[in-house]
Amino acid sequence: MARIYVGAIAAFLAISVGSWAVATTGEPDRSAKLAEFRRPDAIPFPEENPYQAAKAELGRALFFDPILSRDGERTCATCHIPGQSWTDANARAPRNDGGVMEFRTPTLLNAAWTEGTYGWDGKFRSLEVVARTPLTSPSNMNLTPEEMVRRVSADSAYVAAFEKAFPGGGSPVTQEHIEQALATFQRLIVSGPAPFDRWVEGDARAVDAAAKRGFDLFVGKAHCSACHSGWTFSDGSFHDIGVAQGNDIGRARFFPTSTALRYAFKTPTLRNVAGRAPYMHDGSRKTLDEVIDLYDRGGIDRPSRSRDIRPLALSAEEKADLIAFLKTLDDDRSADAASRPFGPEPPEP
Ligand code: HEC
Ligand code: HEC
Repeated sequence: MARIYVGAIAAFLAISVGSWAVATTGEPDRSAKLAEFRRPDAIPFPEENPYQAAKAELGRALFFDPILSRDGERTCATCHIPGQSWTDANARAPRNDGGVMEFRTPTLLNAAWTEGTYGWDGKFRSLEVVARTPLTSPSNMNLTPEEMVRRVSADSAYVAAFEKAFPGGGSPVTQEHIEQALATFQRLIVSGPAPFDRWVEGDARAVDAAAKRGFDLFVGKAHCSACHSGWTFSDGSFHDIGVAQGNDIGRARFFPTSTALRYAFKTPTLRNVAGRAPYMHDGSRKTLDEVIDLYDRGGIDRPSRSRDIRPLALSAEEKADLIAFLKTLDDDRSADAASRPFGPEPPEP
């Protein structure tokens, strides 16, 4: 997919970095490894739905508006809660009838960088098409597309906002435009700079010795970066890490004959992960300690399990170091997130 990059997060990177100092501390030179995780300076937008400020603002309004649920009680933020790292604290997302859904609510952080498919099992082919499922699902927001368009069209402020965001005549309020506006807003949901980023940029004191040892394990002995790669710490791909069981077959639902995709789920971003318990597609791990214990044991051994998952024989100190490292991925702006989910207004491309 061709992508247009908008220089939205450049301001975050204006920290002066200086050049790589010659290691005087006797530490190993990790600069090449660290550079693999360097923050980009712009958000990618697809050519089919380019960035526009008016569209993003409209998307933000729709995201938080209960007009888009039949009973007027739900918004996208009912589950993707800004102050909770754009997820909720539930093991599985709440249905509107008191039951629970199949999966835990994933974070929306850094969704712009997902290449290809969305959803734990990859059921959504683009960020644009995701919204129609929660909007129309009877157990969730429960609106037909016609009712959605009728409700929004009855609000003159919305009609004006759609005309501004989608100029060029025709009927401005359509299901497709609602989806495009929501997707544009969601691409602006980006995790802010974290202590880890300052380390990447050359500040050796930004993270402590335990976190540095944890990073070495993460990219070394523990193989974590085989899947948690790049600045978001996700390869956007699907793997069986030995968690799911029974009918919970993940990506294999769409590729029933594939062994590798059986029980395979999408690698989640690890940015801000410490504040996002419980973990995994089914919320089955309550703490990061439980996650590390799972990787240490190597999950369920079976033909579909990734070759990068195997018992690790980590010591208690190594486990603590990995967690110390993961905590350096927490950004410094979590408290602002609810009121201001992204940084300075991105310029028009
Ligand atoms: C009841 C809770 C709930 C509500 C309300 C909700 N979502 Fe979600 N969202 C989920 C769950 C659960 C998933 C995972 C679905 C799956 O993987 O099949 C999800 C997945 C997503 C994803 C895919 C993320 C990724 O990285 O793969 C996006 C994007 C998203 N939702 C956006 C929205 C938008 C936009 C709205 C409002 C129109 C919304 N959601 C409303 C619970 C919710
Ligand atoms: C083979 C690829 C792979 C490797 C190697 C791997 N992970 Fe994962 N990781 C995943 C996938 C896929 C998931 C989601 C699995 C699920 O939901 O069932 C995940 C989930 C997680 C989660 C939970 C995140 C959330 O939001 O639910 C954490 C934390 C995590 N991994 C950390 C690690 C650490 C630390 C290591 C190294 C010890 C590691 N991973 C190694 C693919 C991998």
